[in-house]
Order: sequence, then structure tokens, then C-alpha cells
Amino acid sequence: MEYKFESSSLYVMRKLLSVLFLTLLLSIIVVSCKEVIEEQPDQKTFPGIEEYLSIDVNNLENYANQTLPNYYQNVNTNTPIGNPITNIGATLGRVLFYDKALSRNNSTSCASCHDQSLGFTDTALFSIGFEGGKTGAHSMRLANAQFYLGLDFFWDRRAPSLEAQTTEPIQDGVEMGFDESHGGLDALFDKMEALPYYPELFELSYGDAGITEERMQDAMAQFIRSMVSTNSRFDIGFADAFNPNAPGPGAGIGRPFANFSDQENQGKQLFLAPPQNGGAGCAGCHQAPSFSLDPNSRSNGLEASETTIFKSPSLKNVAMYGPYMHDGSLETLEDVVEHYNSGIQDGPALDNRLKPGGNLQRLNLSSEEKAALVAFLKTLDDEEIINDPKFSDPFKS
Ligand code: HEC
Ligand code: HEC
Repeated sequence: MEYKFESSSLYVMRKLLSVLFLTLLLSIIVVSCKEVIEEQPDQKTFPGIEEYLSIDVNNLENYANQTLPNYYQNVNTNTPIGNPITNIGATLGRVLFYDKALSRNNSTSCASCHDQSLGFTDTALFSIGFEGGKTGAHSMRLANAQFYLGLDFFWDRRAPSLEAQTTEPIQDGVEMGFDESHGGLDALFDKMEALPYYPELFELSYGDAGITEERMQDAMAQFIRSMVSTNSRFDIGFADAFNPNAPGPGAGIGRPFANFSDQENQGKQLFLAPPQNGGAGCAGCHQAPSFSLDPNSRSNGLEASETTIFKSPSLKNVAMYGPYMHDGSLETLEDVVEHYNSGIQDGPALDNRLKPGGNLQRLNLSSEEKAALVAFLKTLDDEEIINDPKFSDPFKS
């Protein structure tokens, strides 16, 4: 008994000691691990980024986890599985988007024609390229591009994806000038490798400093997809009226919005309701709540005999600056409404919705109704996204 007692107390002592020892060991490991984690930012420095950019690599802006309002519950995105938005990827995209070095003479960046303060478009009828030449179309707003499910980009849908679109302007002889006859993208890569911030940014984003077209496309597409507009007066009104169980489609979108004037609510009804129900049928193609175009939509009858099927960017921020349409042919929103009211022209590319029963659409809106539609379009402007620092120029001047 005695012996047994002694031995078990010794056993307890040993156990205690070993527990103590293990705890000590564990805390040493934890402390030293913590030191490694805390030291990392000091160990790796980014002198190129620090010199040229106001970007804190250790405290990146949030692009990846932007919370969408609950009324976006059924809205899909065109984000490919292989290119989800990451904070570092979108940050690289932002730098590329604002870098004038991406034009041959360092005069023009993407932002020159897609100005944040103007809703990511410009005021020119046709945008001016790096050497003063005119582009063939009016610049497009970029907010909510991720909710367009047609995949194809540009007015005439010639780019098969947002990724593919992003390097087109760089290689365009009018826009940014790295066309084939000037060395193409290879000439640009050489130029970028000599800019101290790019090897650092590519390494942070992709694990090595290699600059490729695919990596540039992915990063710029991430940045553009992160431009989500959900803070217009329309959004505030819908957040309040939203009810997933409301009868009929739209989850409460048809209710008068408390923050809208009577005129804006009337305009909302006209925008949403199809013509056979006394509306103007706009939402059949420009779909709420993102106001991206229905991917199956065809052209809207700007010109007789039109054969090209055009798309529209999201109507978010549409009232900030005209002119409107691919050719900038409509100067004001009043002109746009009048076009749908009385101006639809026939042609092979015309959408059937604008030719109900084989007759060209003539809405016969009263002047009060036209004004209400314009008033509603103005509620789509989002002051927050055009002032959000994470979409602004990151270059130190
Ligand atoms: C010189 C002015 C100019 C520059 C520079 C420019 N863009 Fe554009 N952007 C335009 C115009 C004009 C269009 C419409 C062109 C068309 O459809 O033919 C457009 C269209 C787009 C679209 C299509 C949007 C949609 O909904 O289909 C995207 C995306 C875009 N630009 C991104 C960029 C990026 C990224 C850069 C920089 C690499 C850039 N742009 C540089 C003028 C410019
Ligand atoms: C059949 C589909 C369809 C319907 C219905 C429709 N649109 Fe459009 N909308 C388009 C297309 C396509 C474009 C781009 C046309 C182009 O530039 O060639 C466009 C362009 C626009 C633009 C210009 C966008 C820009 O960035 O310049 C505005 C504004 C607009 N539509 C408002 C409306 C309003 C208001 C209504 C209802 C009265 C309406 N749309 C009905 C398909 C439609």
C-alpha cells in the first residue's frame, strides 16, 4: 500500500512537472510565432510602392468582402471562378487603372476617360486618346459592371469578357498607343519592369514579379468588378421598402419609396411597368436593382436599318454626365426619354420589346410622365462611389 502510495504521488509530481514543462514550451512557441507574424511587415519592405503610391500594403482597402444589400439576394455576378476579387489583386488593378505609364507617352490612363468624379465616364462626345485622337465611341460608365450577365463588353459587345476587355484600350492606336507597330504589350512589359512598384505589386499579388497580360487583365477586372454602386437614393428607398415576401415579383420594389418625391415614385412606376400596363417598359432591359442590361436585350432603335446589337452599361450614375448612347447622339436624359417615347427606328437588330405586335413603340407619354421618368433616373446617382477613396487615384503627385 505504502509503496503504491509513494509511487502514485511521485507519478502525480512527474505529471505536474511535465505539464508545466509543456506549457512553458508551448508559450515559447506561441510567443516566438507571434514575433514572426508581427515582424513580417518590418522584414519585407516595399520601397517602390512607398515612394510612388499612397497604398498601405499592410492595411489594404476592402474590395473582396463588400457586403451587398439584402435586396441583392437574387442578383448574380459575372465573376469567373478563376478570378475572384482579392484585396491585393484589386489594389494592383487600381494602380494599373490610374497609371499614365500604360500609355505610350505617359499622358493617358484608364481614368482619363473613366473619371471617378464623373461616374467613371467622361464628358466628351468621343473620348480623346493619348495623342489627341478621337475614339470611335462615347466612354462608358463602369459601376456595377460585375452584375452584367451577358459577359461581353464594349457597346458593340466585341470583348468576350471583362478580363479580355481591359487590355484592349492599351493596345489601341488611338486610346493608349501600345499597338503592334509600337511593340505591343511586350514593349509595355519592359517599361513596367523598370517602374519600381510593379515588381513589388506583382509579387504580392501573384507570388512572383512576372508581368503578363493575363495577370494585368485579372487585376484590372477585379478592380472594376469591385466598383459596386449600392448607395444611391434609389438604394436607400429600396432598402426600406424591401420585403422578400411581398406579393408579385420585385420584393416590394413597387411600393412608393419613403425617401422619394411623388414625381420620383411616379417615374419609378413608369420605369418598372411594361407598356401594356401603362408603363414605359424600361426595366425589361435595364434590370433593377443593379440597372445592368438584360443580357438578351438587342438594340434600342437609335438608327434605321441598324445591324449591330449594342449593350448599355448599368444606368447607375447616368444623370451625372451625358451625352448618351454609344454614339453620344442624345445629349440629355430628356432626349433619351423622348427617343423611347417617339423615336424608335426599325432595323434588323431592333429588340422585339420595342416593336410590340410588329408596330414600332410609341409610348405617347405626357410631358408630366416624361419629367417623372427623368426625375427617377436622377435617383440612380450614387455620390458615395464617386467619392470613395478606394476607387481614387493612388499615385503620389
Ligand atoms: C481614350 C479614352 C479611354 C481610355 C484611355 C480607356 N477607355 Fe475604356 N472606354 C472608352 C470608350 C470610348 C469605351 C466604349 C468603346 C467602345 O465600345 O467601342 C470604353 C469602354 C470600356 C469598358 C466597357 C464597359 C462595358 O460595360 O462594356 C471597360 C470595362 C473599360 N472601357 C475599361 C477601361 C480600362 C480598364 C482602361 C485602361 C486600360 C480603359 N478603359 C481606357 C474610353 C477609354
Ligand atoms: C429593349 C431593351 C431596352 C429597353 C426597353 C430600354 N432600353 Fe435603354 N438602352 C438599351 C440599349 C441596348 C442601350 C444602348 C444603346 C446604344 O448605345 O446603342 C440603351 C441605352 C440607354 C441609355 C443610355 C445609357 C448610356 O450610358 O449612355 C439610357 C439613359 C436608357 N437606355 C434609358 C432607358 C429608359 C428610360 C427606358 C424606358 C423608357 C429604356 N432605356 C428602355 C436597351 C433598352
